[in-house]
Amino acid sequence: RKGKTPEEVVKKYLQKVKCPPEEDCTICMEPLGGPSGYKGPGVGPVSRAESVGRLAQCGHRYHFQCLVAMYNNGNKDGSLQCPTCKTIYGVKTGNQPAGKMEYHIIPHSLPGHPDCKTIRIIYNIPPGIQGPEHPNPGKPFTARGFPRHCYLPDSEKGRKVLRLLLVAWDRRLIFSVGTSSTTGESDTVIWNEVHHKTEFGSNLTGHGFPDPGHLDNVLEELRAQGITEDDVLME
Ligand code: APR
Ligand code: ZN
Repeated sequence: RKGKTPEEVVKKYLQKVKCPPEEDCTICMEPLGGPSGYKGPGVGPVSRAESVGRLAQCGHRYHFQCLVAMYNNGNKDGSLQCPTCKTIYGVKTGNQPAGKMEYHIIPHSLPGHPDCKTIRIIYNIPPGIQGPEHPNPGKPFTARGFPRHCYLPDSEKGRKVLRLLLVAWDRRLIFSVGTSSTTGESDTVIWNEVHHKTEFGSNLTGHGFPDPGHLDNVLEELRAQGITEDDVLME
């Protein structure tokens, strides 16, 4: 499979801007009427005509070179996220290391969900070596507290969250490699931006039940990663 160049990916999501507005580019903070302030590696020259573009769906405008620099700084998966409003172009993926996601039903109710059983998700990720998509390629990463057990009510909404979490897992968005805010350890597997409940019958860490807003919060966090019910219906 021949990959697109970063310039080709960015161009796909951009429309031409004939007359740059008198605004600053919020990536480099330089005027859109002038050149990109970004002079990082891999930023080649572009013609004046294509130096500014507007993202096709949300309409936010940036220097073309600034978007290319931002893309190069990410995991280069063919997707782009507007840094202003977070609109996602293409399919966003993450850098979650290889591992396993399993789930089953346990015949007990969660606090706050007396009328249904419980879905238990088990994530298992072994330690390994960081790839090019990680902060320190070639260096080992640790994996603490695995297998990690997580809980959802086995209700209609809980099952919907589970379906979307399965999509998030396939797109490598549940975990990432970085510095744990709980332990301060670097080069370790950490939760990404989708909250999970890791306590069953208690709430000692604040990551337990009851929490009436939890499922809606998770749906919102999944949406911010570009995952909605549409993704499930398409499969
Ligand atoms: N359970 C669920 N989520 C948690 C927990 C926890 N015990 N602790 C932190 N989080 C959430 C945080 O609220 C934050 O949003 O995970 C996100 C990332 O926090 P980090 O501390 O960087 O993540 P990590 O090191 O992976 O998790 C710390 O979570 O599941 C446990 O065994 C794990 O003890 C470890 C703890
Ligand atoms: Zn710029």
